[in-house]
Amino acid sequence: MTKLIIEGEHELSGTIKISGAKNSAVALIPASLLSDEEVIIDNIPNISDIDALDEILIYLGATVSRSKDSIKINSKTITNKEIPEEISTKLRASYYFMSALLGKYKKVEMYFPGGCKIGARPIDQTLKAFKTLGATVIEENNKYKIYADKLVGGTIYLDMPSVGATINTLLASCKAIGTTIIRNAAKEPEIVNVATFLNQMGANIIGAGTSEIVIKGVKKLGSCYTEVIPDRIEAGTYIMAGALLGNNLKIENIIPDHIKSLTSKLKEIGANIKINNNNIIISKIENPKKISVQTLRYPGFPTDLQQPLTTLLTQCNGISKITETIYENRFQNVEYLNQMGANIIIKDKTIEITGPTQLYGTKVKATDLRAGACLVLAGLIAKNITEITDVDYILRGYEDIVGKLQSVGAKISITE
Ligand code: EPU
Repeated sequence: MTKLIIEGEHELSGTIKISGAKNSAVALIPASLLSDEEVIIDNIPNISDIDALDEILIYLGATVSRSKDSIKINSKTITNKEIPEEISTKLRASYYFMSALLGKYKKVEMYFPGGCKIGARPIDQTLKAFKTLGATVIEENNKYKIYADKLVGGTIYLDMPSVGATINTLLASCKAIGTTIIRNAAKEPEIVNVATFLNQMGANIIGAGTSEIVIKGVKKLGSCYTEVIPDRIEAGTYIMAGALLGNNLKIENIIPDHIKSLTSKLKEIGANIKINNNNIIISKIENPKKISVQTLRYPGFPTDLQQPLTTLLTQCNGISKITETIYENRFQNVEYLNQMGANIIIKDKTIEITGPTQLYGTKVKATDLRAGACLVLAGLIAKNITEITDVDYILRGYEDIVGKLQSVGAKISITE
């Protein structure tokens, strides 16, 4: 079993370079199927979720070549066939193939997607959008058969600004007949990255990044070159490592605007952060103060940083609070942090973290991707050795986490 072994209490200094955003890249790759020509996507993170998407592309018959952080995809040769359940349940983003194939062929058969088990993750808003565009959706157990004679634009009011439903609607509608409007759309930077990519291929989308997106259908999408934006969640995770152990730790290749909700909270805690054009320099916070945080849709505080933040709050003076409003079950890290010496209680959707407490290394388990990141941060500050199992979750979303942390002074290794 793969494990991360961390010897804690080592100062972090030097530079960590942030990779491309997982949650953008996992949408851009399926989106490329909508083009009839070659597309090149740069700044692709080297994480296992991307490998799973490559597997689907190759299974469908696309020509794919990947080098370091770039991927070249030509979908001319693909066949619209059912993606096997064991592949599509590997990750959440497999459902972007559902909308891309529907948008291209007006027909798709696919299974319910996978993803971290952090509570119910229904896809009703995506299915509602498909139906608004004129598709018939037949659900049999875990499988969906979706087809249409033609897709015709319509207005979709999302019940909540879902990232997945917004991207799926973009993909399914950009070649539909007429105009589609998404109201109450998600505003995450990843949505803008996907819409920009589609526009670079020839789509006509305006308003991405706001709550109303207008998509005028086009007949054909062609070749293009695009880049994945920097991963704001990876950046946030390492910035918090800097807040715990940094000595002028530099986190580079970031877009400071994308992480404002985090940097403003860090300032409340007492951090002295230097924010430059594309990097942030941060040191260990002396006498950190308690804070209260609520996870929200962008530009609010991201749920994906809530678990890593919990580790930082174990070191703050007083009772800090985090309220999770997006997922039902995103506190699985708490049990393990408490085993390491934290003092955290769960009260329904809120956790109360009493600090500061010394953490001690022990054997813990990554129950999901960001819980894993939380435990890595905990291991970095704990006395003695922390052993983290179920590391595969972490490798799904953090490129070379071991190498990046080692390069700034952490004592961390991965063992088979
Ligand atoms: N929801 C519904 N119905 C829907 C869609 C969403 O009820 O049709 C509710 C559910 O409670 C769901 C929540 O809204 O759990 C969030 O759903 P959303 O569609 O916004 O998120 P997602 O597309 O499933 C993406 C990221 C997540 C990130 C969220 C929120 C990908 C592959 N995943 O998920 O990333 O937490 O947006 O920002 O892009 C992670 O990286 O660790 C991660 C979980």
